[in-house]
Amino acid sequence: MIQGVRLILLGRQGAGKGTQCVRLSNHYVVPHISTGDMLRAAVKEGTPLGRMAAEIMNAGGLVSDEIIVGVVEERLDRPDSAGRGFILDGFPRTVGQAESLGKILKQPLDLVIDLDVPRELVVERISSRRVCRDCGSNYSVSANGPAVRICDNCGGDVVQRDDDTPDAVNKRLDLYDTQTSPLIKYYNSQGLLAVINGVGHPDRVLDRLVEAIDAVVARR
Ligand code: AP5
Repeated sequence: MIQGVRLILLGRQGAGKGTQCVRLSNHYVVPHISTGDMLRAAVKEGTPLGRMAAEIMNAGGLVSDEIIVGVVEERLDRPDSAGRGFILDGFPRTVGQAESLGKILKQPLDLVIDLDVPRELVVERISSRRVCRDCGSNYSVSANGPAVRICDNCGGDVVQRDDDTPDAVNKRLDLYDTQTSPLIKYYNSQGLLAVINGVGHPDRVLDRLVEAIDAVVARR
């Protein structure tokens, strides 16, 4: 039987965290916990959290540590993640969030992965990203290729994300450098970090990720 895992995926916006977390979640049968997806769902439903987060997200800013930590703590308490484990995508994003996570976790992390893709390449990827408004499925369109308008998965409208505008993307990438990249040093000093090359076909990237994770699980 495949063992559960407790993972964090770090990486620049557009590095492919969401793309790979879906695959890893299927492979290891653990929930994919994406704070971005949770916030987008709250925006869509018009909850108080969503109303508060929408403007911040569209401008490329970060929701406050206090609020996002509360959201994650509640999610980690559910039986699926408390049992087999989880893959955290987009959290933690600041050292403050990482310190809070350390206090929340009841079992230790297996691995923190930095999915490494250069800034120029992520900007290219984000400009061609389209997502399904209903189920969140991810598409990549090329300048000369056909436009994707209807989701293969659910038939929903396929659109550009509201925060994938050039201004918001640059702000998000700058915030990654100042607020999130210090986590690489933070987790490296705890012996938990693996840097994985995120460039190449998504299937090859997945192979690299699974190899690194399996090596850690085998030593557990
Ligand atoms: P979030 O949803 O987490 O967005 P993000 O961090 O900006 O990350 P992305 O979704 O842009 O990138 P990704 O790495 O998942 O790339 P993807 O797989 O889509 O957060 C959104 C917002 O919510 C934040 O800006 C913030 O406001 C708020 N928020 C969330 N968490 C927060 C927190 N903890 N604290 C405070 N605020 C928070 O791939 C990108 C594209 O590349 C796709 O088109 C894909 O098809 C393509 N692609 C993927 N892999 C490859 C490959 N190997 N080769 C070629 N193309 C590829």
